[in-house]
Amino acid sequence: MIEGVGLRKIFKSGIFSGKTIIAVDGVNIKIEEEETVALVGESGSGKSTLGRILLMLIRPDEGRVIFDGIDLTKLRGRELRKIRMKMQLIPQHPDEALDPRWRIYDSIAEPLRIHKLCNRSEEEDKVLELIRAVGLKEEHLSRYPYELSGGELQRAVIARALTLNPKFIVCDEPTSMLDLSTQASIVRLLMDLQRKLGMSYLFITHDLELARVVADRILIMKDGRLVG
Ligand SMILES: Nc1ncnc2c1ncn2[C@@H]1O[C@H](COP(=O)(O)OP(=O)(O)OP(=O)(O)O)[C@@H](O)[C@H]1O
Ligand SMILES: [Mg+2]
Repeated sequence: MIEGVGLRKIFKSGIFSGKTIIAVDGVNIKIEEEETVALVGESGSGKSTLGRILLMLIRPDEGRVIFDGIDLTKLRGRELRKIRMKMQLIPQHPDEALDPRWRIYDSIAEPLRIHKLCNRSEEEDKVLELIRAVGLKEEHLSRYPYELSGGELQRAVIARALTLNPKFIVCDEPTSMLDLSTQASIVRLLMDLQRKLGMSYLFITHDLELARVVADRILIMKDGRLVG
């Protein structure tokens, strides 16, 4: 389904020294249809960078990203945007996904508007369906992000990620900002949605216990490499 082959990413760090960091170093990874793969590793080991490369939010310096048989590293512009509709990120901080100046309704509807996928009444139906699917209510739609609790906010982020019916989602520590009971309910929601909608997940976490609960398979990352 999605596959990374020989991925490598080097960041230049240090304004004066010209030092470089090899954030991802020769990674091969493959995630099948409807599979959850957990990616576990210490801070700075390259997990988020690898997740963002698979979504082509970061271009790799070397290697290929293959989604449904198509090499995404060869695509640009509109072609890439069209395929990227089928891939989404659920980031650690909701503010990376939701604009604080927008009502929740508009954040969830925005992907539909960008891609001009439906008229106003179809849009309203779709947004209502999504907000219910993540366990929120119609009343949450008129609120701003700061008017929601952490768990509600993460549910709204999930609703937005689902808007375009993705096949692959990178969950980048989606619950690490939440308290334990909220964490459990969000994890349950993500697992339920996966079963219902038949998506694949790359689930990034520091927490090996959590990885064991959610994943079909666990990959360990260390210093930019997959080590097990
Ligand atoms: N845009 C960037 N520019 C320079 N260096 C970067 C950039 N993004 C990441 N890095 C560096 O690349 C390495 C890997 O970072 P990454 O964010 O992928 O790690 P991570 O495993 O997700 O860590 P965490 O668990 O703390 O989120 C780190 O040393 C980081 O400082
Ligand atoms: Mg990270």
